[in-house]
Amino acid sequence: MVSAKGLFYGGRKTRSLISVSPAEKPCAIQLFGSEPDIISRMVKELYEDFGSDISMIDVNMGCPMPKITSNGEGSALMLDVPKAARVMEAAVNASPLPVSCKFRKGWDEEHVNAVEFARAMEAAGASLVTVHGRTREQLYHGEADIGIIAEVVNAVKIPVLGNGDVFSGEAAKRMLRETGCAGVMVARGAEGNPFIFEEIRAALDGTEYVPPTDRERMTEAIRHAEDFLKEKDPKLFPELRKHMSWYTKGMRGALDFRRAVNTARSPEEMLALLYDYREKLS
Ligand SMILES: Cc1cc2nc3c(=O)[nH]c(=O)nc-3n(C[C@H](O)[C@H](O)[C@H](O)COP(=O)(O)O)c2cc1C
Repeated sequence: MVSAKGLFYGGRKTRSLISVSPAEKPCAIQLFGSEPDIISRMVKELYEDFGSDISMIDVNMGCPMPKITSNGEGSALMLDVPKAARVMEAAVNASPLPVSCKFRKGWDEEHVNAVEFARAMEAAGASLVTVHGRTREQLYHGEADIGIIAEVVNAVKIPVLGNGDVFSGEAAKRMLRETGCAGVMVARGAEGNPFIFEEIRAALDGTEYVPPTDRERMTEAIRHAEDFLKEKDPKLFPELRKHMSWYTKGMRGALDFRRAVNTARSPEEMLALLYDYREKLS
């Protein structure tokens, strides 16, 4: 998720925040913003820079964070549907790639307008929409409302992705079954658990899913950390702490491991701790 305004004013520096590795294809870049002119210019630039690496541009209209919504961006656009439609139209007109949009159930329980919003996005040219079944007011609390996703699916012809609380293969199946959505988007369920996609695949195919052993989880955590350090500035290694905490949830000796990881002073020290912990799990 990258700010269109940030890209416009920050140029190269902001652009360096976006990177796409070959293993991630096909993927989308997500922009946020509320000014059609700036969105239009940045969509064109993104296409020039990343055209062959991305297959879609997404516009975020669901982010609940005050620093975003206080500028009228993210989920605040749900309170101004005509403006949101102008933003989407600008993106669609500027983009040779399909443009999608991600939004929520509504702003709060008094302003539940996902259906009207989805129709407006479709009319503005969106190729796909993703609906998170929570209001902005709920942030990430409470249960995601599957019913509203079903209502959106019934209201538009474009594909709808259902999002919210998919933490297992069974939950993904339920989302597809109960809403008729074209696909499922997973966020927190993948934190420290990239295996969830395999689990969902197995659930949909009706095959057995064998969860990884703790040692296999640590092998994946190490790969994740090494890729991160190769692709990002190694000085950012403290960002890995939360991931390592997610990977090791519920494992033997995880508390001590996390304490050590959280005080590691260098990427090398952190990696040594990961290898050491994996050895101890054998
Ligand atoms: C740490 C974090 C970062 C997120 N970043 C984005 C983002 O950049 N763009 C976006 O559309 N949604 C973002 N989301 C929201 C998720 O895509 C998703 O809508 C929400 O977490 C509900 O799905 P879940 O129940 O599967 O987590 C983020 C969520 C979390 C927890």
